[in-house]
Amino acid sequence: MSDKAVKNLLGYLDRSVTPGHAAAEAASVLAARGFVSLPESSRWDELPARFTVARGTGTIAAVIPGARPPEETGFRILCAHTDFPSLRLKPSPVRESEGCRVLGVEIYGGPILATWFDRDLSIAGTAVRRLAGDLVQVPYDLRRPVCRLATPALHLNRGVNEEGFSFNKEENICPILGLLPASFDLAAEIGRAADGDGQAPLAFSGHLYDTQRASLGGADGEFVFSGRLDNLAMCHAALEAVKDIEPGESTAVVCLFDSEEAGSGTASGAGSTFLDDILERLCASSGREGLFRSRARSMMVSADGAHAVHPCYASKHERANRPVLNGGPVVKVNAQERYASSALSQAYFAECASAAGVRCQTFVSRNDIPCGSTIGPILSTRLGMAAVDVGDPMLSMHSVREMAGTADHPGMIAAMKAHLSGIIRL
Ligand code: CO
Repeated sequence: MSDKAVKNLLGYLDRSVTPGHAAAEAASVLAARGFVSLPESSRWDELPARFTVARGTGTIAAVIPGARPPEETGFRILCAHTDFPSLRLKPSPVRESEGCRVLGVEIYGGPILATWFDRDLSIAGTAVRRLAGDLVQVPYDLRRPVCRLATPALHLNRGVNEEGFSFNKEENICPILGLLPASFDLAAEIGRAADGDGQAPLAFSGHLYDTQRASLGGADGEFVFSGRLDNLAMCHAALEAVKDIEPGESTAVVCLFDSEEAGSGTASGAGSTFLDDILERLCASSGREGLFRSRARSMMVSADGAHAVHPCYASKHERANRPVLNGGPVVKVNAQERYASSALSQAYFAECASAAGVRCQTFVSRNDIPCGSTIGPILSTRLGMAAVDVGDPMLSMHSVREMAGTADHPGMIAAMKAHLSGIIRL
């Protein structure tokens, strides 16, 4: 099972070049396992035995209603995010400079920008068309390295190794698209990639991504090297967990959100009503009273990448809590509530992991290094629900090329299955 899960992960990482592609890939994985798509705009009078709900382009939930009503058993909820730091095309992105065509891009989230230089970059996103009277969004992917952010030569930047590589985020983050004169028409190319004709779409989003494929690495094949591991690795683990479980007594909900790296404040982000709306509709037969009773019996697991200790930067870690790659899922704790974990929810997740034969590690920040955050506290606050923040250990978080351990992936999937199946009572 472990080799297969990791192999599936590599394919998922390669195909999920934007949050929209990650959500579409999730939808197709789940559809193949019998999940029926239930639009938010339809009436939910009769619920399928397993179904998906989507909002926007990059947010999707999978639901398996339990044998007993939610107000008796609560929900078992698992959340992760489909987005990742990147560069995105500005409006009117193509301009001319020194005989070249270059792209205007905006920075999305918090990438380690230096890692985006000298990579072979492609463009993917969503194109908007009017088809048979309706506005439709079509994902597209140019699938070839059409542009590159080039570093200046060492000879023109002599201090780079002593002073570090520095750049201006507006003047120097301009990927080179080609030379003049040019025949390449970006809008027409996107139109062709979206649905086969060369008509420029009404509008499009454009996300740059590194075309290097995910691979197994390390002397013994113990690592995964890839872009987008934060947080597509946890999205994939959640999908692997939910696609295989049988309906239990409690209702299982997996929710993969867009917009986390931009603060979650969008119509489909973790700060939106998306998950609340689903839970309320699942409690329709018992009304808001049933919803409140359900929430009080529920537990949420928020899964996002965790910081493994770096062998050459070990001092960045707190002394007693140093997660290692392939050491098992990490439970994250923060006194300022930047993570949602409490003593109770930590105990709960440790029991899930233990039921699956998996050992956990813990992470806490040093007091002199500010802690990151996740969708855990946002959702826990919105829903008034107990939650625990967990994640697989990784290095180079927010680099264009990250790394994680292969052994952690199946362990996390097993712990997630124990959670979603509701075998651990609260
Ligand atoms: Co993340």
